[in-house]
Amino acid sequence: MRVAMIGTGYVGLVSGACFADFGHVVTCIDKDESKIERLKAGIMPIFEPGLETLVETNVREERLFFSTDAAAAVRGADAVFIAVGTPSRRGDGHADLSYVYAAAQEIADLIEGFTVIVTKSTVPVGTGDEIERLIRERRPDAQFAVVSNPEFLREGAAINDFKRPDRVVVGTDDERARDVMRQLYRPLNLNETPLVFTGRRTSELIKYAANAFLALKITFINEIADLCEAVGADVQQVSKGIGLDGRIGSKFLHAGPGYGGSCFPKDTLALVRTAVDAGAPVTLVETTVKVNDARKKAMAGRIVKALGGSVAGKTVGILGLTFKPNTDDMRDAPSLDIIPALQALGAKVQAFDPEGMHEAERLLSNVDFKTGPYEALDGADVMVILTEWDRFRALDLDRVKSLLKNPVIVDLRNVYRPDEMQALGFAYSSIGRP
Ligand code: UGA
Repeated sequence: MRVAMIGTGYVGLVSGACFADFGHVVTCIDKDESKIERLKAGIMPIFEPGLETLVETNVREERLFFSTDAAAAVRGADAVFIAVGTPSRRGDGHADLSYVYAAAQEIADLIEGFTVIVTKSTVPVGTGDEIERLIRERRPDAQFAVVSNPEFLREGAAINDFKRPDRVVVGTDDERARDVMRQLYRPLNLNETPLVFTGRRTSELIKYAANAFLALKITFINEIADLCEAVGADVQQVSKGIGLDGRIGSKFLHAGPGYGGSCFPKDTLALVRTAVDAGAPVTLVETTVKVNDARKKAMAGRIVKALGGSVAGKTVGILGLTFKPNTDDMRDAPSLDIIPALQALGAKVQAFDPEGMHEAERLLSNVDFKTGPYEALDGADVMVILTEWDRFRALDLDRVKSLLKNPVIVDLRNVYRPDEMQALGFAYSSIGRP
């Protein structure tokens, strides 16, 4: 099949490269000329494990192309994907759909023959209807169907998530469009991936409901972690004890500093707004948003407490800045709340992140960025683990102890074991464990 992918952000680039790897012929389109030039030269705009090789192979085998010109790619396409950003609109938290609608109008002017227009961007319920209306208005003669096909991939594990998904959701009532979608995802038949066909609005809501539920699950275990600390219980064992119940499931029960990233914060907020507008408020999600925001802000207090009540004039050594490992994404990362709060209290911050420092330099000021984890700890009063990168999981702890001014560790990702750390002579605090 021939695919045009509008937008080369996370979702567009990964989906485009994976569809090409499935054997389809894909052109990824972006208005950003320098991004397209870099992609043509094999330079990735994001850090995502495996992506560079996947792109390189498919470009070499002439299944994957990059262009700033939508015309040729859209004209010959069986399916045109809209994978542009839908950031939070400033002020009200609604998803900003201007890029989506601009893409729809551009597509409208170009389509020839029956074309399936697929929304991969995360869009509020009813957006597909509006896209259809816009295109129909511009091109009353055109033959097309607008389909919702939300993406569930996680940053850092995006290729695997795309190629081995738990399910693929396709929202359309158009039988011809369903056939095109079946053909596109045919390679997943081997793993017997369920293809869930629904109406378009339902599919749009599935995406938000999935992200909101996961955000809620994390927030639930975070609150249970605080309770564990208050009553002397261990949250990791609670997670295991409840997660083995098949109805609950063990995933997304890791307590931490609060969720961040490009999706959960934005999508929970957008769902809250949609629900209020529809007169059916989702109060659990509203509370989740509030609890998570407050949690990220409260995390600096843990570091202050570990240092005896004041960080003024002290140096905090931070390991990890991105919102999670295996990405360079800093969007809504807990570090963006924690570090400025510490600085406001008079702390000096030195930090290291394997991939996020370039982005962090833009977003944080007065941070002394270091070249490695040990450099970030050299002369610090405390070591703080903010992101659980693999390379922080087996640190040389004798070396850590010799570098720190005080043997104090705040582990906000529960990477190490309290008993082992205490035995090594560290004053160690983590999340929800005695
Ligand atoms: C999330 C969803 O997991 C994907 O299914 C979805 O496709 C994506 O959003 C999206 O809408 O595009 P992502 O934001 O890449 O993916 O990252 P996650 O692995 O879900 O982590 C999100 C945040 O939750 C991170 O800050 C992470 O540290 C935190 N988290 C996750 C926890 O604190 N505890 C957990 O148990 C799991």
